[in-house]
Amino acid sequence: MEMKNEAVLILDFGGQYSQLIARRVRECHVYCELKSYKTPVEEIRQGGYRGIIFTGGPNSTYEKDAPKCDRKIFELGIPVLGICYGAQLMAQTLGGKVKSSDVKQYGKTELECNTSSLIFHAARPKSVCWMSHTDYISEVPHGFKITAISDTCPVVAMEDIKRNLFGLQFHPEVEHTSEGMLYLRNFLYNSCGCTAAWRMSSFVTDTIDRLKKEIGDKRVLCALSGGVDSSVAALLIHKAVGKQLTCIFVDHGLLRKDEGDQVESVFRRQFDMNLIRVNAQERFLTKLAGVSDPEQKRKIIGEEFIRVFEDEAKKLGRIEYLCQGTIYPDVVESGVGEAAVIKSHHNVGGLPENVGFGGIIEPLRDLFKDEVRQAGLELGIPEYLVWRQPFPGPGLAVRIMGEITEEKLAILKEADAIMREEFAEHGLDRTVNQYFAVLTGNKSVGVMGDGRTYEYTVALRAVTTNDFMTADWARVPYEVLEKISNRIINEVEHINRIVYDITSKPPATIEWE
Ligand code: XMP
Repeated sequence: MEMKNEAVLILDFGGQYSQLIARRVRECHVYCELKSYKTPVEEIRQGGYRGIIFTGGPNSTYEKDAPKCDRKIFELGIPVLGICYGAQLMAQTLGGKVKSSDVKQYGKTELECNTSSLIFHAARPKSVCWMSHTDYISEVPHGFKITAISDTCPVVAMEDIKRNLFGLQFHPEVEHTSEGMLYLRNFLYNSCGCTAAWRMSSFVTDTIDRLKKEIGDKRVLCALSGGVDSSVAALLIHKAVGKQLTCIFVDHGLLRKDEGDQVESVFRRQFDMNLIRVNAQERFLTKLAGVSDPEQKRKIIGEEFIRVFEDEAKKLGRIEYLCQGTIYPDVVESGVGEAAVIKSHHNVGGLPENVGFGGIIEPLRDLFKDEVRQAGLELGIPEYLVWRQPFPGPGLAVRIMGEITEEKLAILKEADAIMREEFAEHGLDRTVNQYFAVLTGNKSVGVMGDGRTYEYTVALRAVTTNDFMTADWARVPYEVLEKISNRIINEVEHINRIVYDITSKPPATIEWE
């Protein structure tokens, strides 16, 4: 692939921002790969990378078991940018000194830089950067110049322009560093010579070409959920081989209001895809009858999903390939861990390996989530699908506390649809990362007109988060909450009380089950 000729390698030393660095590099339109710091120098050399970035990391370079790098990396003639721990490691490896600081190098710091240096070219002489390590470089190695300082830190940045080696004590990739993207671009374009060729439009056309060759006249099967990843993956394959692709959309009946019809309409009508929709609500509800334990529900849904999928697949005769919507964060190795991180979240899309396919096709393996969305837009998938908030595989089953019945499902679908409508109406759908209604198992007393009621309580949940590992409850304006509450009470039967969930994660989770 053309654009990959200019790849940059990010060596992960276990820093919390490693993936963020990779995303930032991609935002500069440069293709990059994130690999463990243990990657052998020979492999790096053969990779033909234009540049190398060392990430930060939690260790101190002078600790015995701290992750180290091979000195030979600096002799490959490839530009290297060390960030935080990465810079300290570069300094120490090349003969400089690293010390622990009495004054913590932490948080927002004003740096003063030499704007005639490469990294700070066209930068403001003074600006804010974000530090996150207690160690600092006290002495730069031979050949290096100090290119930025702060009140408390003698070496905020250093460079050896002859060898194209650069070190930053701070994190250019985080938003708090006001000119961070400029520094990264300076490294990528001016030192590595990258030309910003990584574009989603070219990714899409290149991938379609590659898939055409790879698949030939064979057939491909895809489990389409209507989520962003599976939709984009399927559409790329569809554009490559048309009707040789068959998509099975298992509608377990636990989707949001009208969602099944939307998925069908987009992929069958708009894109004319070979789509089989299996309406399996009855099958799932029968299996779920009487079950109220959350894990049990998940397990039943996961297993039944596979069974329904297999039943359908069998009817289709031999199909050589299975398409999966795996994305880059699912496959990158963690910097210090031994094993590759595999998607751990009980995804209903997880299919068994032994269903008899010749191979797996994963067209999104190289992409971050933001890039998958861009590719989706390039392919003409409607915005509402591309920007859709995450939705758990087991669907509304984990948003109905206790046993699932058709009646409860119908109530929740209506309440949730109202919440989503109002969020869109007030522009909260882009700023709040996930939001939904929960049918709590609770019933309480109310009054309506002259009568006493005894009905369900609905909880509204809305969170802001970057990674869904931690989350904060969204500060939704009272007026919006009021409107949602009034509408649900007036428009949906069997609900007489609405509450808003104001717990962050942790201690709560985003979902209620
Ligand atoms: P929690 O509730 O663990 O959710 O804070 C974190 C994110 O994961 C989603 N989620 C799931 N996704 N299958 C999925 O595919 C599941 O069983 C599942 N449970 C939670 C949840 O919606 C949130 O985005």
